[in-house]
Amino acid sequence: SGSKLWGGRFVGDTDPIMEKFNASIAYDKRMWDADIRGSKAYAKALEKAKLVTAEEKDNILHGMDQIHDEWAKGVFEVKPGDEDIHTANERRLKELIGEPAGKLHTGRSRNDQVVTDMRLWLRDAISILKGNALQLITTMVERAAVEIDVLFPGYTHMQRAQPIRWTPLQWLRSKHLKDTPYSLFAPVELAFDDISINSMDATGQRDFIAEFLFWASLCLTHLSKMAEDLMLYSTKEFSFLTLSDAYSTGSSLMPQKKNADSLELIRSKAGRVFGRCAGFLMTLKGLPSTYNKDLQEDKEAMFDCFDTVHAVLQVTTGVVSTLKINPSVMEAALSPDMLATDLAYYLVRKGVPFRDAHGISGKAVFLAESKSIPLNQLTVEDLRTASPLFSSDVSAVWDYSSSVEQYSAPGGTAKSSVAAQVEHMRTWLKKQ
Ligand code: ARG
Repeated sequence: SGSKLWGGRFVGDTDPIMEKFNASIAYDKRMWDADIRGSKAYAKALEKAKLVTAEEKDNILHGMDQIHDEWAKGVFEVKPGDEDIHTANERRLKELIGEPAGKLHTGRSRNDQVVTDMRLWLRDAISILKGNALQLITTMVERAAVEIDVLFPGYTHMQRAQPIRWTPLQWLRSKHLKDTPYSLFAPVELAFDDISINSMDATGQRDFIAEFLFWASLCLTHLSKMAEDLMLYSTKEFSFLTLSDAYSTGSSLMPQKKNADSLELIRSKAGRVFGRCAGFLMTLKGLPSTYNKDLQEDKEAMFDCFDTVHAVLQVTTGVVSTLKINPSVMEAALSPDMLATDLAYYLVRKGVPFRDAHGISGKAVFLAESKSIPLNQLTVEDLRTASPLFSSDVSAVWDYSSSVEQYSAPGGTAKSSVAAQVEHMRTWLKKQ
């Protein structure tokens, strides 16, 4: 243990099994750039505090730049004693510039470096994810604009409910305070414009990681649900849409198969990411204050969630931008029973309270079912057995497009309403 950063008080070597168990270099080397940025800033602070001379500071900065080059070129050599990225960079700095390297750690702990590095790394990672999310949102909004006229069945409880417009906008999950599409767009802002107000809190808390993991879980939960909808719509039974071959795979046994593996994997990743989130919260729960080695578990959770969300957002963009919808099949799937609510509204316009109108329309549905005919094939005489208020103008009810058009309030299914949603999103996208 003599060669270790902390080896002074130790006798003999660390057990190799412990060495491996303890080390985080295998994964935290991904933060090499953040670690160097942090150390360079710290060297400047040490000079200001007169703990290193201007010359020593310059040596440290220069050495750090060389280390940066080695990592960037892929030639940095991780050595057996390099426990983590902080240890590795400091060891290398000593090899390159000698004595002043030993002064860099004055007044700081690796515990400070860990949090600084992770905040820096995650800030960049989040901006990458925001870029991925913007591409997905743009794809969805533009599809909605182009395919605004396509109608298809809306479902509740997986049962045919009312006609709606096909637009991918319902999957955007907007936030109600701000106009940020919450589910897909990373909400975690990691500002670096101020110091933490308490040093023990700064090194001992990982709320920013937990929030990132929660956002990743929520984001993928929504994409998982969307994947499920799209998967169902792409079955032969529905045939509302066809996935691109580029995002499908086949069966090694059944030649006719085309499986929606992209959507299934998107659906599955929500479970994986939520597992990371739940696992990390369990790690945090009950920890004594300030740094404990348990916190080293933060990194694999963060990296894995980043990699997973990064991949999912890109694959989802690919799937959504390449799938083909089958508008005629979608519209043919509408059926008159889906206008039963409209039949009730017809009576409401004639002064019937909605509760009563609902009951009368329900009787009409029952009558059509018992005659084994579609709801719109009931004659006015048939309908009059349910209410005398029905007359020949009831025929106007049997129109899917006017049904959809009647909901012109904000958020509704009328073309003007959906167009306004598209415009709202376009304006928001421009501001990003
Ligand atoms: N690799 C460790 C981590 O990622 C560094 C911190 C070690 N600190 C300590 N006091 N042993 O958390």
